[in-house]
Amino acid sequence: MDLEEIKKNVASEIEQARSGDELEAIRIKYLGRKQGLITEALKSIADMPIEEKKKFGPIIQKAKADIEAAIKFKENEGSSDDFIGDITLPGRKIESGHLNPITKTENEVRRIFEGLNFSVIDGPELEEEKYNFDSLNIPADHPAREMWDTFWLKPEGSSLAKNSVAVKKKYLLRTHTSPVEIRYMETHEPPFQIISPGRTFRYEATDSTHETNFHQLEGLMIGRDISLANFKFIVEEFFRRFFVGKKVTVRFRSSYFPFVEPGVEVDIKLDNGKWLEVGGAGMTHPNVLRAVKYNPREWQGFAFGFGIERLAMIKYGVPDARLFMSGDLKFTKKF
Ligand code: DAH
Repeated sequence: MDLEEIKKNVASEIEQARSGDELEAIRIKYLGRKQGLITEALKSIADMPIEEKKKFGPIIQKAKADIEAAIKFKENEGSSDDFIGDITLPGRKIESGHLNPITKTENEVRRIFEGLNFSVIDGPELEEEKYNFDSLNIPADHPAREMWDTFWLKPEGSSLAKNSVAVKKKYLLRTHTSPVEIRYMETHEPPFQIISPGRTFRYEATDSTHETNFHQLEGLMIGRDISLANFKFIVEEFFRRFFVGKKVTVRFRSSYFPFVEPGVEVDIKLDNGKWLEVGGAGMTHPNVLRAVKYNPREWQGFAFGFGIERLAMIKYGVPDARLFMSGDLKFTKKF
């Protein structure tokens, strides 16, 4: 049988097929591994002289692909009236997408804080040195800069930089979400309360609790009589809603961050488990308020920064922070 004839026959046979079994019989007749007509034709290529191989190889391959596609198409028509499929076959599963657990956690966090009357705001991941450090009370010579291993961007025209007099802005990948606080305060008047979840970057070795590419949740509330007691209420309320139905205890440990005074580390304990650190917080430092032209005698506020990976690991029982950004679908599909 020549190829044209095969193609014509197969088309009408597929057209007339009335069940999955009939289609399968057609597939075996033409594409079956043992004596399928197309399979045999493909095998026969092996013995052809090279010129013919070049000529017929692609033609037969194309015929094979066309037949496969036609069978598939017919199968997908399975539910239409003139095709009586095997209704006892299990349905074909429709693959649906999955949100990364970080996205899920971010969405929950947004929802909870919106319920507490916070606005959700955004900021750039590529940041200026001024916002990531200086305005947060961390000048260039400050030893605290070492707390944040930084991915710096090459300065523009870097080969000339040594001799150039003009002071160029320095850019980096933000090492935390705190610069968003400065950007927001520069353009808004208090009182307000905001959160800003987003991506952050650190130039450091990775392990099960450290990733170079991770996420933070920043929060800031500025008003006339704000104290750490207000923060304690908000943070307890947040965790109560985040870990639905579980008893959560929150504790503060005294700590140091240049942009707050006093500064604390925030730990939580679920039911009767261990204390787990979730981030830092404190009362916004007067130097930070001054940097955005707020009068520290008039305005006070609290700020906090939590690790979103940390929250997701605790909530969903994920053992390794590197899984989140691994791109591994086997992992994402679990959520
Ligand atoms: N930005 C800090 C960090 O990444 C976390 C932090 C600590 C944020 C205290 C705050 C804060 O807003 O008040 O290590």
